[in-house]
Amino acid sequence: ATPPSPQNEPVLTYAPGSPERAALKAELDRRARETIEIPMVIDGEAIRTGALDEVRAPHRRDLLLARAHQGGAEHVARAIEAARRAHPAWSRTPWTERAAVFLKAAELLATRYRPTLNAATMLGQSKTAYQAEIDSACELIDFFRYNVHFAHRIAAEQPASAPGIWNLAEPRPLEGFVFAATPFNFTAIAGNLCAAPALMGNTVVWKPSANALYSAHFVMDLLIEAGLPRGVINLVMGPPELVSNACLDHPDFAGIHFTGSTAVFQSIWRRIGENIGRYRSYPRIVGETGGKDFVFAHASADVDALAVALVRGAYEFQGQKCSAASRAYIPRSLWPALKDRLVGHIRAIRVGDVADFRNFMGAVIDERAHARLTGRIAAAKSDAACSIVCGGGARAHDGSDGWFVEPTLIETTDPRHPLMAEELFGPVLTVWVYPDGEEHTALALCDETSPYGLTGAVFARDRAFIEAASDALRFAAGNFYINDKPTGAVVGQQPFGGARASGTNDKAGSLFNLLRWVSPRVVKETF
Ligand code: SER
Repeated sequence: ATPPSPQNEPVLTYAPGSPERAALKAELDRRARETIEIPMVIDGEAIRTGALDEVRAPHRRDLLLARAHQGGAEHVARAIEAARRAHPAWSRTPWTERAAVFLKAAELLATRYRPTLNAATMLGQSKTAYQAEIDSACELIDFFRYNVHFAHRIAAEQPASAPGIWNLAEPRPLEGFVFAATPFNFTAIAGNLCAAPALMGNTVVWKPSANALYSAHFVMDLLIEAGLPRGVINLVMGPPELVSNACLDHPDFAGIHFTGSTAVFQSIWRRIGENIGRYRSYPRIVGETGGKDFVFAHASADVDALAVALVRGAYEFQGQKCSAASRAYIPRSLWPALKDRLVGHIRAIRVGDVADFRNFMGAVIDERAHARLTGRIAAAKSDAACSIVCGGGARAHDGSDGWFVEPTLIETTDPRHPLMAEELFGPVLTVWVYPDGEEHTALALCDETSPYGLTGAVFARDRAFIEAASDALRFAAGNFYINDKPTGAVVGQQPFGGARASGTNDKAGSLFNLLRWVSPRVVKETF
């Protein structure tokens, strides 16, 4: 059974006058007029507790998008029970039938629900239309389709047999349930953290980020309409630690598929360690936990390309990508020309309501993120080792009332400054200018300064330098870009993830990831 060969979903342009733009605008208007209720979904049933949390648009505090029914320990227990009950039938369903559910979801999203999920991601997470399109439409469709392709390869991976002996690898799922704890910043990642284990026959308890409940609701609806049987993915909402601990403390906990902060992932790992004696199997721990992603320029770099890469890498989706460019190493000879171009681009960036397609940036996700970022920018303003080159404010350019932070460019004289080491998760790019001729010292600093190892880019025309940088930064990035921005990995083309403090590097959207969700049995039969 060979599934259709996957192709990346074409990215629509939303150009003025295009049909996709009209459809998306209509959906945005409709959604902005209606406040919906978001239930949990346990064992295929919508669960309404009446304990309601408000879901508001980050860029329009007056816009009440939804009220979400919050659960407690009892609901997590029910979700785990539902996942356990669904496991025997789902895990025995031929993989081709499981795959058909996700191929159908991809088709429904591509052809019918694209405006719905894009609008939900724009309003709930403050993404522009273009960022929503690459995330909640194309990347999620790609995950669904490519995962099926990898599942086929896993099914086909069989051991040798011999005369009178037939050996068979049976790609069983894990025994127990998988806990998917998903982030706000990519709707596609949230969908994939559930879909990848489910495709391989696992059943899932899903806790979406409290900051992405609006899009999570529509992803759940999409999967149900595509034919996902009840209990295979159970969506629970509630206090994060309570939900998480209830899953991690359960003897049937079999694995976690996580994207979020390093601190939370480490606390999860510790809790799993404390519980290790009570699980049936050693759990699979798969997590992606952020980055402090670099752009390293050589004196031979193309300044125009570098400037565009820095601006897109640092400020698209307000810098809230784990892959975002947030520290740059620039040779002194390039800095004056690059600075001019960066300032020109940054001044042209419009920040505001994402429903206005001329805006390049929306709001950051919530009040906490806003306070954290404005605090870091204020500290830089009074730090003798830093100067604000551009930005530094916290307002919308169109008068919208939300959690806005302007695109901010900082220059530091200290290559080991915390702004060159710690993840900020916002639209702040820090540059350290190094003396020409000292690029090898600068490469060593780039490698050592931050604990992360997710993405990074090198800009150079000099081939020997590209090779040297690629070698010096071998462990500094799991996704390494040459003359391109460090964001925007495409499923099937650049499997995504990093090591060091960035995670377990189980490459989202690849065979490496899908393999984590199987626990094969090998059967030998003699004749
Ligand atoms: N995969 C995204 C990117 O490459 C980040 O999660 O930008």
